[in-house]
Amino acid sequence: MAFADSFISAVLVENVDDYEVEDGVVVNISPTKMFTGDEHPAIVLPWKSTWLKKGKIKSAERVAIIKVVQPTNLGGCVFRGWDWLGNRVRSFPRDTPLYISAQDEIGTVSLDPRVFTNERIASEAPQTFALKLNLWWSPGNTDCFIHNEHPFLETHTQIHGLGRMQKFRQRDPSTIYEDVPMSIGYSHDPFCRVTGENLWTYPWHRYYADTDSIWLAIELHP
Ligand SMILES: [Fe+2]
Repeated sequence: MAFADSFISAVLVENVDDYEVEDGVVVNISPTKMFTGDEHPAIVLPWKSTWLKKGKIKSAERVAIIKVVQPTNLGGCVFRGWDWLGNRVRSFPRDTPLYISAQDEIGTVSLDPRVFTNERIASEAPQTFALKLNLWWSPGNTDCFIHNEHPFLETHTQIHGLGRMQKFRQRDPSTIYEDVPMSIGYSHDPFCRVTGENLWTYPWHRYYADTDSIWLAIELHP
């Protein structure tokens, strides 16, 4: 993947069939179920993930397998081509260390956005989305900024360290009403609700890095 380097191993595998994973977070980047295990098969739902260790993916449409292989000087990613978000967003706080990797456009997917958001079980109105993946990095105790606007559907997977995805009533940390712990291998449920064609609303939300963290952003662009 575009953000793989000597510190972070990251591969995308499609049409997966009996694939052995030595050690890594496996993310189901597809609208269909991923099957893992051998004698005791298990199901990983679309856009969810797990941490396999000498484990097997029996079948999947498309997976990302990501692992931090060199934690020493991992934060040096900011000198290895990752960009400070403040360089891209003028209103971003000038003192917040949130860095973004290269983004990988990995293809398209056809799905009903209301199925993605778990508002609907059966697909009624599928549409095509472009899939874009990138990593984020922040040191521990970083407030990654409360926001509520995205021109895409998003979810995140924890790759390294510990953090939280949090929801707020207003753009004010004291108005928190939900705190979702993110540990390695976990993907949170989508936060948005579909409100029209290519329209969705997000609650005020932020990622909070409790320790030095790497997390994956999965974006579906109409
Ligand atoms: Fe967000």
